[in-house]
Amino acid sequence: MDLTAIRQLTDTDMQAVNQLIYKQLESDVALINQLGFYIINGGGKRLRPLLSILAARAIDYQGQQHVKLAAIIEFIHTASLLHDDVVDESTLRRGRETANALFGNSASVLVGDFLYTRSFQMMTELDSMPVLKVLADTTNVLAEGEVLQLMNCNDPDTTEETYMRVIYCKTAKLFEAATLLAAVLADAPPEWQQALGDYGKFLGTAFQLTDDLLDYTAETDELGKNIGDDLAEGKPTLPLIYAMEYGDEQAKTLIKTAIEKADGTQAINEIIAALHACGALEYTQKKAEQEAQKAIDSLSVLPDTDYKQALISLAHLSVNRKN
Ligand code: FPP
Ligand code: MG
Ligand code: MG
Repeated sequence: MDLTAIRQLTDTDMQAVNQLIYKQLESDVALINQLGFYIINGGGKRLRPLLSILAARAIDYQGQQHVKLAAIIEFIHTASLLHDDVVDESTLRRGRETANALFGNSASVLVGDFLYTRSFQMMTELDSMPVLKVLADTTNVLAEGEVLQLMNCNDPDTTEETYMRVIYCKTAKLFEAATLLAAVLADAPPEWQQALGDYGKFLGTAFQLTDDLLDYTAETDELGKNIGDDLAEGKPTLPLIYAMEYGDEQAKTLIKTAIEKADGTQAINEIIAALHACGALEYTQKKAEQEAQKAIDSLSVLPDTDYKQALISLAHLSVNRKN
């Protein structure tokens, strides 16, 4: 199933999600409307809310609360992006200036806080302690992941294991919540909750692995973000970690220096060549594909429906994308 077919399948639900998102964005404070609209309407893929919707439909959930869940997940994600672009000093996202570049860091952080706290107001409307608990834990782990990553920045000795922990915390955990909570809302049997939670976790991991790969392989125009941002930050992502283990001595020194000094952008072409030469990019792609396959395998206990097929297709699309 391609993305157009998946969008068609979820059109009614996603329209309701969008309506709720815009309603919840409203505030008497003009800057919140302005910046909030800029970021929410900025060509994002709406992947995480789409996952909540598909997960709910895949188990034939009959209520309407999945729409609110999807909006909550998108608010948390958007808040985290506003904060992330400040922390990462990024100037380009989704092919446009980042909110921090356009409105400044303070406005970005504070409107991020607005979205984040609004998501908690919406959670109370779901009136479910189990849902609240998962989301409270998820957002806390998200913050933990970012701090752990900060500690690893400029550290060339970061291991693959630590890297995998970071990407679980900062990315996969929210994907996991998006799909698991659809099953919680539906009061689904434990094995379906487990299946959908695992699917989200593996998919999120595959997604971030691909994200980190694209930082070295994509074209800025297509990606809508600046290539080499990770290197400029001295962020030890998997391609670099692999190359420092298996590359030749010259590559190791080059990459180690780039991570330590966070000035690798001058050597970016040389580093990309070194990553190709030792198979680091191939390795990362393989690992992303393996995680996507684990996501697909997790769904085996669910009934065969178009919605399950859509979830399977999304796993393939997540690791075969250009942006
Ligand atoms: C993008 O990663 C960022 C995240 C996945 C999470 C960001 C989370 C925070 C800043 C902390 C938590 C904040 C709240 C409000 C709960 P990236 O920088 O690797 O990807 P990019 O290339 O898209 O910037
Ligand atoms: Mg970033
Ligand atoms: Mg970041």
